[in-house]
Amino acid sequence: MALDHHRTLGHEDEDAGLTMVLDGEDATAALAARLAALARPGDVIALKGPLGVGKTTFARFFLHALGVEEDIPSPTFALVQTYDPPAAAAPRIWHFDFYRIDSPAEAYELGFEDAFDDDISLIEWPEKLGSLLPEARLELAFAFADDVQTRRLVIRPCGATWTARTAHMAAPGETP
Ligand SMILES: Nc1ncnc2c1ncn2[C@@H]1O[C@H](COP(=O)(O)OP(=O)(O)O)[C@@H](O)[C@H]1O
Ligand SMILES: [Mg+2]
Repeated sequence: MALDHHRTLGHEDEDAGLTMVLDGEDATAALAARLAALARPGDVIALKGPLGVGKTTFARFFLHALGVEEDIPSPTFALVQTYDPPAAAAPRIWHFDFYRIDSPAEAYELGFEDAFDDDISLIEWPEKLGSLLPEARLELAFAFADDVQTRRLVIRPCGATWTARTAHMAAPGETP
């Protein structure tokens, strides 16, 4: 994965985030594994971007990195799937897809707020939650690029906890 070192996290350009080029699914897998290693109970990772851009693919790689071996279907119709990684005391992971909800209130019916305390939430179409989306979150905004196997990604930490954790990712020359 290629980092754009002109933009850094946590400083004057905080809101702009860190731009990354994911040149192939392997790069997406590497990033997902890196973020999975940083993840903690209570984390919210918001996955933004158009249909087919790679949000579910990222979630699969994230779950695989935590040792989840079962099939990971897209939650497009179920709206949520939960996974329990094999490691002792590992937090449960909730994989949401809010594409099909019409109002934030529908997310309550899925019990989504329970996930925000001690579990990890991966949320596709987080915009649908409106103001119910937790302020402390990591936002990953995927976009298509010229090559069919390439994606552009903007990583934006919202809140102190993610700003501190992702600051290291902008360091030039650092390996995952
Ligand atoms: N660099 C890449 N990272 C992630 N997915 C990629 C990449 N290049 C191509 N793809 C493909 O893009 C598609 C993304 O689909 P999916 O993850 O279901 O999208 P979304 O959940 O955003 O609708 C998959 O077919 C995947 O193989
Ligand atoms: Mg999806």
